Amino acid sequence: MPLHLLNHPLADHVLTRLRDKTTPPAQFRTLCHQIALLLTLEATQDLATRAHTVETPLETFNGRALECPIVVVPILRAGLGMLQPIVDLFPDVSVGYIGLERDHDTALARSYYCKLPPLKNTRVLLVDPMLATGGSAVKALDVIFSRGASEVDLLNIVAAPEGVAVVEKAYPKIRIFSGALDRELNARKYILPGLGDFGDRLYGT
Ligand code: PRP
Ligand code: URA
Repeated sequence: MPLHLLNHPLADHVLTRLRDKTTPPAQFRTLCHQIALLLTLEATQDLATRAHTVETPLETFNGRALECPIVVVPILRAGLGMLQPIVDLFPDVSVGYIGLERDHDTALARSYYCKLPPLKNTRVLLVDPMLATGGSAVKALDVIFSRGASEVDLLNIVAAPEGVAVVEKAYPKIRIFSGALDRELNARKYILPGLGDFGDRLYGT
């Protein structure tokens, strides 16, 4: 199954507060941080490790060390809200940026920025809080795979069935990790019940 949903009481609690229209931007940012942390832990459960031996103050310990370099790519601007928790968990990550903006009338994503580190032989975490039509995610995935990536996970806070289907059709092997799978898109391609415009709520715009 390409779609993995969070199954944790804290995720339900945080998502409900994110959806609440009275949650102010300062709290919204903290909640975004918390759910991104949960999503990252879920998506990285299978990270490769190698044997790594250390000396404790008392004796030798045969431990493990992370093997595969991780690259996190937030889709600007709202994806930036999910970046810090990932950097906190994996301080050695490389960070790439893809700037995409949906046209308000057509809901089609327009690319305005792209800066990516080398992606070959890395594990890429593509992060964007909302998966609505899937247009932004597929555009970002097109770029990421054209730059040599082979292992990519997509992390969203809320996904719509329409967006999941679009990503699944274009990239059947991608794993999507999401906080919730909502009901549908409205006529303006916003997610229902959703939480509104994530970027606007994150940045108070
Ligand atoms: C939002 C969101 C996603 C995109 C999802 O970004 O952060 O990137 O919409 O919609 P889609 O699946 O239909 O493409 P938006 O274009 O509003 O830009 P912003 O992050 O700058 O607010
Ligand atoms: N982008 C958002 O921020 N919210 C939606 O519901 C859809 C796209």
